[in-house]
Amino acid sequence: MSLPILVLNGPNLNLLGTREPEIYGRTTLDDIRALAEARAKTHGLSADFRQSNEEGELVSWIQGARTKASGIIINAAAYTHTSVAILDALLACGLPVIEVHLSNIFKREEFRHHSFVSRASTGVICGFGAQGYELAIDALANILSKAKPA
Ligand code: DQA
Repeated sequence: MSLPILVLNGPNLNLLGTREPEIYGRTTLDDIRALAEARAKTHGLSADFRQSNEEGELVSWIQGARTKASGIIINAAAYTHTSVAILDALLACGLPVIEVHLSNIFKREEFRHHSFVSRASTGVICGFGAQGYELAIDALANILSKAKPA
């Protein structure tokens, strides 16, 4: 069995379900965890799904992924727009990275249009709500299957 996909969620995503439902919907983070785990399973993969409100904890998890994960899916939430530390950790980890956002960040305030995470990502999925995580898992599974030695 290959190493799990690390699915990282940044600050305030623990509040999904009640947080600004007009933007983020009513789906909870636990619902998204279940979706992600089920989707990974369809590809013969597993998902290590985590959330933190702390930048340093996210950085440490990304560092740890170098030997413990096959790829990273990350919704860095507000840290997307501020964190050079998360960008540097992603660049250092040497793993494929897919960036996810529930909302379409380009339809929102100007400060959300810039993402540090994008510089380390193969691709970005935003605006599809929880389904974005499933799309990201499909994309990462495709990348990993191509990277496998024949
Ligand atoms: C978000 C978008 C960010 O701008 C915001 O700070 C979040 C959530 C999203 O999933 O749409 O917390 O990453």
